[in-house]
Parts: sequence; C-alpha cells; structure tokens
Amino acid sequence: MDTIDLSRPTDEAVFAAMEPREPGDFANHATPLIRNCWYACARAGEIGRTPLARKLLGVDVALFRTEAGAPVAMRNRCPHRSFPLARGKLSGDRLVCGYHGMEFGPDGVCAHMPALSQTPATATVQTFPVVDRGPLTWICLTLRIVPPGISPASCRSRAISITIMLPCRAVSGSTRM
Ligand code: FES
Repeated sequence: MDTIDLSRPTDEAVFAAMEPREPGDFANHATPLIRNCWYACARAGEIGRTPLARKLLGVDVALFRTEAGAPVAMRNRCPHRSFPLARGKLSGDRLVCGYHGMEFGPDGVCAHMPALSQTPATATVQTFPVVDRGPLTWICLTLRIVPPGISPASCRSRAISITIMLPCRAVSGSTRM
C-alpha cells in the first residue's frame, strides 16, 4: 500500500489510498479517516457553558458556547502542559485552563497568561469549524480548510448510495436431511 504524508495529505493521495486493491477489500487500520467533511458531534442542547469533552475521529475536542450562544470547538489540549481544556472553566467567552490558568478565546488564541504581560504568538489552540443545524451540532475536523460547497445543510438533504461488491463462492451439490 502506498504511504501517505499525513502532515500534508492531498485529497488525491487520500482518495487513492482508499481505493480497494482487490475486489472485496474493505477499510482497515491503515485506511485514512475522512476529515474534510462534516460530522455530528453532539446534540445541540448538550453543548453549553460547561465545557464538554468529545473524542471524534481520534481527536480530543472541547466544545462549549460563547455567551452569545455560538458553538466553539477546540482541541482539548492546552499548549502549555497538555492539560485537557474541557476540564477548565469559562470566563466570558474565554476557556480557562484548569492547570495554570491560561485563557483562550473562541479563535483559540491565548488572550491571557498569568504572570506574563504579553502572550506568546505561538500559544494557540487549534479550533475547528462548528455549526448548529437542527437538533444537532456539526463539526469539521479538517486540518486544513472548510470543505468547499459542503455544509451540514447540504449533508442533510444528500442521499448516499453505496454499492459494495462482495466475493461470493457458490457451493454446488446436494444435501440430504
Ligand atoms: S497546562 Fe494549561 S496553562 Fe499550564
């Protein structure tokens, strides 16, 4: 199987790796996950002013809402000492790390670091596109850009049809009962 540079995957490389090598092949542990798409991550009512931890496609995510009610999704890992941010608390629209108190805005940028007057530009947490649609909240775990032309709204009305070719071995003969 071809290897993929996961630090810089192209759509072509990912889809090429997903092609079955033999008729009847299925995905296995080496098949890349499809990140550049929308997934339901919670019921909309589950996300509130108490940070919620979720693991989605192997990524630990912290979910919460701003004071205005907008959903926010960021990696559940403080860039300082890797404390899970969902175990912190909210102060206004900032998520405060429960370990040493660094504060991150909804954009993932550190807005306050205790004991420092200036925050380093590298003190940021990765955030993910997240939206409410109907009773669910949707997240896109892309490492790059929001998938063009794809939104939870269009996913809702899109029907997916899959044809799977399974190997079949016919056994001839007769049995007596
Ligand atoms: S681990 Fe988060 S501020 Fe130190």
